[in-house]
Amino acid sequence: MPPSRPVPDTTAAPAPLPLVARPAVRAHVGARRLATLLGPDWDAGRGAAYVALADRVRLLVEDGRLAPQTRLPAERELAEELGRSRTTIVSAYARLRETGHLVSVRGSGSVTVLPAPRDGERAAVDFAHAVPGPVVGLADVLREVAADAEGVLALGGFDVLGDPALRARIADRYTRRGLPTTPEEVMVTLGAQHGLALVARTLLRPGDRVVVESPTYPHGYEALREAGARLVPTPVGSDGWDVDHLVDVLDRVRPALAYLLPDFHNPTGATLGAEDRRRVAAAARRSGTVLVVDETTVDLDLDGRPAGEPFAALCTDRLASAVTLGSLGKVAWGGLRIGWVRADARTVHQLAHRRPAGDLGTPAFEQRVAGVVLDRYDAMVRARSEELRERRDLLVGLLRRDLPAWQVPDVAGGLCLWVDLGVPVSSALASAAQARGLRVTAGPKFCIDGTHERFLRVPFTAAPEVIAAGVAVLREVWDDLHRDVTHLRRTARGAAPGPHRQPLTL
Ligand SMILES: Cc1ncc(COP(=O)(O)O)c(C=O)c1O
Repeated sequence: MPPSRPVPDTTAAPAPLPLVARPAVRAHVGARRLATLLGPDWDAGRGAAYVALADRVRLLVEDGRLAPQTRLPAERELAEELGRSRTTIVSAYARLRETGHLVSVRGSGSVTVLPAPRDGERAAVDFAHAVPGPVVGLADVLREVAADAEGVLALGGFDVLGDPALRARIADRYTRRGLPTTPEEVMVTLGAQHGLALVARTLLRPGDRVVVESPTYPHGYEALREAGARLVPTPVGSDGWDVDHLVDVLDRVRPALAYLLPDFHNPTGATLGAEDRRRVAAAARRSGTVLVVDETTVDLDLDGRPAGEPFAALCTDRLASAVTLGSLGKVAWGGLRIGWVRADARTVHQLAHRRPAGDLGTPAFEQRVAGVVLDRYDAMVRARSEELRERRDLLVGLLRRDLPAWQVPDVAGGLCLWVDLGVPVSSALASAAQARGLRVTAGPKFCIDGTHERFLRVPFTAAPEVIAAGVAVLREVWDDLHRDVTHLRRTARGAAPGPHRQPLTL
């Protein structure tokens, strides 16, 4: 099925934001590091090398792997590193200036910027966000709460800790799942992301080590990094964690925190088993590491099984601690911006003390909505699980039929598939897809060290027709890429590859 909206012309130059026309330089990227970020296949296509280079840098800027206000290496330096002519680099930089992704600052060289979004600009098909729409029944809840406007207004507007009645409801759910919790152990936040950023700012000192999974949820590691953490990766795949590695890192590195997504992990969909949880909790106890358990996707079991005992139930003695993050974003609606932190009362107190510097509290209307959502939560979980199950089955079926070279995992829950492409071309694929109106996030975005070029995250949150349109674009792009690589192999036969040009095996 064709994309439902017109494909935006991504080659036209958007107006650069006046504010960043002369940005301060906040970071530098050296030629070697940039070559690593570009990956070995950045020029695998048949087009001009300068176009391929500009496209790949644009992808890095747009998905945040190259932060705005980063100075790129001098043209000559990059030309040497990539084994290309200086003209190629000069032309690529010129193209990036035209598309609004680079500005030249006198005395500072070429500096990355994010172009201003054009009014109404949206990708025709969005596979970049694993965000479900509002759950069935949510509109009724909004109407009911709005009908009691006086009741909402009487709630006092906003507060740092959250409405006591809502905190009690959240606490009650933990207690029923096997982790006895009082309202004093809960803070209501503006979504799980806000909770994580606040936890990171409150519990970390600059330079503290934090273990993160690789791959993981990217805004998770970004929040930890912003708080000054030095990140230490531990591997996870569709078949689960390398628990020996995780336990070893906890024992050896003794990190301050470990940020874990043990239930329907984003992006792999894996779930950490009971015995492994016990081993990780025991290692965290030995090393004095606080486990930050992100349960944003815990209720997304596609077979409708209710969420089990929280990981944090294994960490309730004096020597082991865990902070749990929760959210209504996936079951109810991300637009609610309601999440929470569950921690010991002292930590919650610390968070409350820290919070006002960033925001003053969670608004009353959304909290009232959240309270009613929790009253009807089990039915909403069932509706969401049914919807996601259908969409997962559709996506898995289409991918296995149309892209048989890819390894599509079986997932029991969550929001997406972590697909193994078999060859390290995820960025090339994402870049080419974007030119055809499909936004999709390449594997390296999910890893702190830019690895996982062989993997692509494909969410099954969109409507069925959007999933079908997205897979159709992926198939076209994959076919082109396949032809390009075959062509490249033919033309490159006998030519010595540059330092970062390894042959691809398709
Ligand atoms: C693992 C994980 N944590 C946190 C979040 C952010 O959740 P919220 O919308 O509640 O801020 C997401 C959203 O995609 C997520 O996947």
